This record gives sequence, C-alpha cells and structure tokens, in this order.
Amino acid sequence: MDQLVLEGGRPLGGVVPISGAKNAALPALAACLLTEAPVVLERVPALQDVYTQLSLLKHLGVEAGWEASDVVALAAATLTEPVAPYELVRTMRASFLVLGPLLARCGHAEVSLPGGCAIGARPVDQHLVGLQRLGVELEVVGGYVRARAPKGLRGARIVMDQVTVGGTEHLLMAAACAHGHTVLENAAEEPEVVDLARFLRALGARIEGEGTARIEIEGVEHLKGGRFAILPDRIEAASYLLAGAATRGRVTVQGVVPAHLGAVLDKLEEAGARVEVEAEAVTVTLDDRPSPVSLRTAPYPGFPTDVQAQFMALACLASGVSRVRETVFENRFMHVPELARFGAQISLEDARSAVITGVPKLVGAPVMATDLRASFSLVIAALAAEGESIIDRLYHMDRGYAAMTEKLRGLGAQVARRKAPPG
Ligand code: UD1
Repeated sequence: MDQLVLEGGRPLGGVVPISGAKNAALPALAACLLTEAPVVLERVPALQDVYTQLSLLKHLGVEAGWEASDVVALAAATLTEPVAPYELVRTMRASFLVLGPLLARCGHAEVSLPGGCAIGARPVDQHLVGLQRLGVELEVVGGYVRARAPKGLRGARIVMDQVTVGGTEHLLMAAACAHGHTVLENAAEEPEVVDLARFLRALGARIEGEGTARIEIEGVEHLKGGRFAILPDRIEAASYLLAGAATRGRVTVQGVVPAHLGAVLDKLEEAGARVEVEAEAVTVTLDDRPSPVSLRTAPYPGFPTDVQAQFMALACLASGVSRVRETVFENRFMHVPELARFGAQISLEDARSAVITGVPKLVGAPVMATDLRASFSLVIAALAAEGESIIDRLYHMDRGYAAMTEKLRGLGAQVARRKAPPG
C-alpha cells in the first residue's frame, strides 16, 4: 500500500491545473448506457473511481477506451446481461447509478446495493422510490436490487423527501428515456446535476429547469451519440486553494468555473484571504494567520460537505475559535482524531458539530487517510505543519485527486509517494 511523505512548513505558490469533476464524470459514464450510439467524453479525470466505473461499464458490454489522457470513447451498442455485481459496486456509490439506465435500455436489471466512503448511513431509498414512481417493480434480495419495468418506464411527478445529488441524477437519466413527462421536485441544484442535464440534452434528451429545485423532463424514444466535455472539479479546486491558504501561500487554480466556488471563496475571504477571480481562474493569497470562521455545510449553493474537512484543516491554525456544523452527512468527522495528531485542538459537541480552537502551529505526524475528501485535509495539515508527516492509506485519495503528487510538487511542496514499509 502506498503512503505519502511530506515535509511541511513552507508556503505553496504557483498555478495548478484543475481536472474534470469526478462527481460529474461518474454519472455521465453511467448515462452512456442509455444510447446505442458512440459517445466521447472529454476532460475525464484519470482517477480510481473513473477506472472502477469503466470496469463496470465494460462488464455490462460497453466498449470503452482512452483516446487521450483525459478523453474516453464509449459505445454501448449491445449490452450483455444487465447485472452489476457486488465486487464492482462495493467500493463506489456512484456505480449504483447504472440501475436506471439499464432499466431504460433492457427493461430489467440487477444491481448490488452500493458501498463507498463510510461517511454515514447513505441509503438509496430516494433512488428506489423515484424509480418505482416511474413504473419500476423492485425487490431487494441478498444485497441486490432486482428491478423490472415490464411496461417500460413512464413519466411521473416525483417529490423527493431529501435533497440528493445521486438520486436526482439517477431519476434524471431514467426519466430522459421514459414514456411521457416527468417532474422532479426538491431536486438537487449542484453543478454536477446541471452538467449531467446538459450532457443528456446534447444526446437529444428534453430537459428543463436543471439548477433549480424543479426539473422537467419530456421522455424521448432514443438518445443519439455525441461529444461532451465534463465540467471542472470545484472540490479539487477548493482543496488546492485551501492548501495554499493554510501554508500562507498564493495559489491559482486554473481552468475552473469561479461561480461554482462561491461559498468557499466567501469563507476564505472571511478568514482573511485575498481572492482574485478571473474568467477561468481563481487566486487566493493569505499572508497571516487565518481569522476564525464558522460554517455549516448545505446542499449547493451552500458550503459543500466535500470541502468541510479541508476547511477544518485551515481553521486549526486560526487566531481564535471556529465552529463547523455538518448537516449533509451524519458521520463526517473521521478526520478529527487524525488532525489532532498534528496538534490541532478540536472537540466534538455532538456527531455533527465541531469546535476548533486555533493553534499557532501544527507539527508533522504519521496519520491515516479515512475517506476520500477528508484525506486531503490531512495533506493540508501536513503541508502547513513543521517537519515530516507520513499519510497512510493513500487509496482513498487515489479515488478522487488526479495526479495529486505532481500537482502539489508543481506548487513547490516537498512530497513523495512510496510503498509503505512492511508491518
Ligand atoms: C454526492 C457526491 C458526494 C457528496 C454528496 C453531497 C457523487 C459521486 N458524490 O454523493 O461527493 O458528498 O453528493 O454533496 O456525486 N440520502 C438519503 N436517501 C437517498 C439518497 C441520499 O437519505 O436515497 C441522504 C444521504 O444519506 C445524505 C444526503 O441524502 O445524508 C445527501 O446524499 P446525496 O446527495 O445523495 O449524496 P451522493 O449522491 O451519494
């Protein structure tokens, strides 16, 4: 297993290119199952989660290959048995999104219930209830969802109990090829949902209202092929900006949509950072100790839960007390004991509220990555800390951060990846 060795205590500086968004690429890959025609996706990040999704698609009979380092060509002309086995679905929740497209294409499917980061119970009830509203008959047997749409998928009005990104994407894909009209109420407004709607529209789907809580879809018989560029990764961009700020450096993220970073940039300014916004780039500079900042995570356009851990790493160094409230997931503070190993002072008021008392400096330590985004908070702490840190269990980071070691080096970080010594 690989580990990361970092020598901290020096400011990061420079420009870092941002990859395509993992969370937009994964549903787009699942959506390729909806059409028999060839599809080319550009700006696909080279990441473990993307490789996992591609393995699943290939298992389902899709021909897929890389045309360039970030371009994937796919053709789902003929599908094999529409079964997504546990081995391929267990590591990543987004693989569950193949269920709806398989039902649209084949009329039946069997998909294992998903795994993914252990950041909460993370049920898929909203996905399943929505599919049932679209005419799907389903049962859960032995950890698998067995589903049939004997009369095909039919449009419906669906009011989701909970704002869910994956649930909205799943139902958007299924409804795109259903008979008739679908209205999704209480839909997620995340940019990744908007990107999926734009992709589906490029393939001929009829969708309106994405980016609001009410999405309307007029089902079409067939989708065609097409070429589409995935949007830039706002979570990756926020992560590098926070690394720059925590090391009191100056970092520019290049190739981003600045509007998607709104909530994070507001909080960085509140922390005392200077934020410069250009058309496709954002630069953040922080010269002093950050001011304390309190935040609560919320669905978009609120502060992203996927940046909560990274922001907490910055707050660890603030000149006062910050509070962080996690409202999206019920178990997303697994990084807290690891941050404490650097000397951070964090106490949990309850499972969703943390109080961070800033300390003047952190000291390097051996730590363990716990989940995908939280692992970057350890990178940030290690870069800001004095001395050497070792981060174990890098596979969490490989799921979501493309070329991380190279990108950090490009910003002047002293970082090396190596095989963990045995034992
Ligand atoms: C997606 C992102 C993830 C991000 C999350 C919230 C991808 C691949 N992953 O995850 O990085 O942290 O959005 O922005 O895009 N819920 C239910 N029932 C459901 C579905 C969800 O109760 O059927 C709950 C979840 O347990 C969670 C909340 O709704 O508490 C939000 O989850 P959701 O938006 O669905 O997250 P994901 O799509 O899994």
